Amino acid sequence: MTATAAAAPTAVAEHAASPTYTPARVDGVAAVLPVVGADTLVPLVDGRRVPYANLDVAASAPALQAVADHVDRVLPLYASVHRGAGYLSQVSTALYEQARRTIGAFVGAREDDLVLVTRNTTDSLNLLAGCVPADPATGAPGRVLVLDIEHHANLLPWQRDTDATVLAGGPSVAATLDAVREELRDGGPYALVAITGASNVTGEALSVAAVVEIAHAAGARVVLDGAQLVPHRPFSLAASGVDYVAFSGHKTYAPYGAGALVGRRDWLDAGTPYLAGGGAVRRVRVAETTWHEGPARHEAGSPNVIGAVALAAAAEALRAVDPAELAVHEAALRDRLVAGLAEIDRVQVVRCWADAVDPVGVVTFTVAGYDPGLVAAFLSAEHGIGVRDGRFCAHPLLGRLGFDAGAVRASVGVGTPGADVERLVAAVRSLVADGPQAQYDVVDGLWVVVDDPRPVPEGLGLDGLLATAALGDPTGCTPIL
Ligand SMILES: Cc1ncc(COP(=O)(O)O)c(C=O)c1O
Repeated sequence: MTATAAAAPTAVAEHAASPTYTPARVDGVAAVLPVVGADTLVPLVDGRRVPYANLDVAASAPALQAVADHVDRVLPLYASVHRGAGYLSQVSTALYEQARRTIGAFVGAREDDLVLVTRNTTDSLNLLAGCVPADPATGAPGRVLVLDIEHHANLLPWQRDTDATVLAGGPSVAATLDAVREELRDGGPYALVAITGASNVTGEALSVAAVVEIAHAAGARVVLDGAQLVPHRPFSLAASGVDYVAFSGHKTYAPYGAGALVGRRDWLDAGTPYLAGGGAVRRVRVAETTWHEGPARHEAGSPNVIGAVALAAAAEALRAVDPAELAVHEAALRDRLVAGLAEIDRVQVVRCWADAVDPVGVVTFTVAGYDPGLVAAFLSAEHGIGVRDGRFCAHPLLGRLGFDAGAVRASVGVGTPGADVERLVAAVRSLVADGPQAQYDVVDGLWVVVDDPRPVPEGLGLDGLLATAALGDPTGCTPIL
């Protein structure tokens, strides 16, 4: 998956490749790192309370306990940054700039790379899209090559801000790499190839090393959407040759509102400042503004100090774990998910490429005869399991693969115990065998429990549960996100 991926869990990987291999049950597999909320009980429709099985970490991962503890330690020291003379302002400024260095080191930044603290992957990729240089001869927007397997965050910014070509993925990794190679050779020149480090639908990816080799040979740079890769695998810009990587704190066990864009300085220094405002400028006169170069150019306004510090703490905690341990844990859970689901009647596991190597712990599936939204509502209401349903902000991919009606996604991370995976497999098996026990209905395009008896947590001022924020679509379309 990446040139610098940890030594693959050889035993697991080799077995998984064998047609006779049935992954062992994973009931006894423990989480690798403690996360906040691991013991949280949630109510079921039958009145019981069970520990929440969070199998939606690809959307947002729970905070590592180490991250939450670090934030608690830092909060009393928090004050204004960059322009404050007070002692705590100086401490906070040092913490912020140190976090920037740690975040850069986490993704193997080269000495001259810039580390920009953003809000998330979407923000990072939008920022970079505004910095792709125009064609020097014609002044036309820079050309970007992207595959149709991408999350909308790694598709729409290129389509809006650059001259983007969207290439359909092929039936295999090898065929897709051939198509990329051919397009770069015959359809170029391109400034940039934008590619996922791991699909948020299937966990699969092209070989990053191969993409870099092909792109660089054609004179194009590579940006990696690291949203689903960086939380799961060691990654290094320097070792892989990737030019830019974007990722999100909330998917990297640091849900405090920060993300990052790390990579080559020249485009970022020359690009239009992402946000106009204080901190991004050297000098302002009414008629003329001189912008900073470096990170400040794109970080106008007051930065998210706590978010950056939290992301750095997550980076340090992940780097402290033996990569082989991470890989073995995740491969065991993923293999069991795929095999356990696939052997249930009427269940189909969604794949882009059967020959993808070392996919991350993201597994998408459908249950014939059941709407994905109903499956997800059932898993929550009757089993206390959190998954994602819909089209995962990857509409072109789901459409091409024939899943326009959506699917269900289970995803695991360092805080996932194997028992949660077994609970999911057993719950889906019970759905197929016996059907749901509660009554469900579609309200405003969403599956809900009829007269849902589950209470909301007390003391938070909540007056009900809300499944999505995508309400009130004036077109009346069913929201399939
Ligand atoms: C592969 C991938 N890219 C980009 C994003 C966007 O991330 P964010 O919502 O944190 O900006 C996601 C989110 O699910 C993702 O999975």
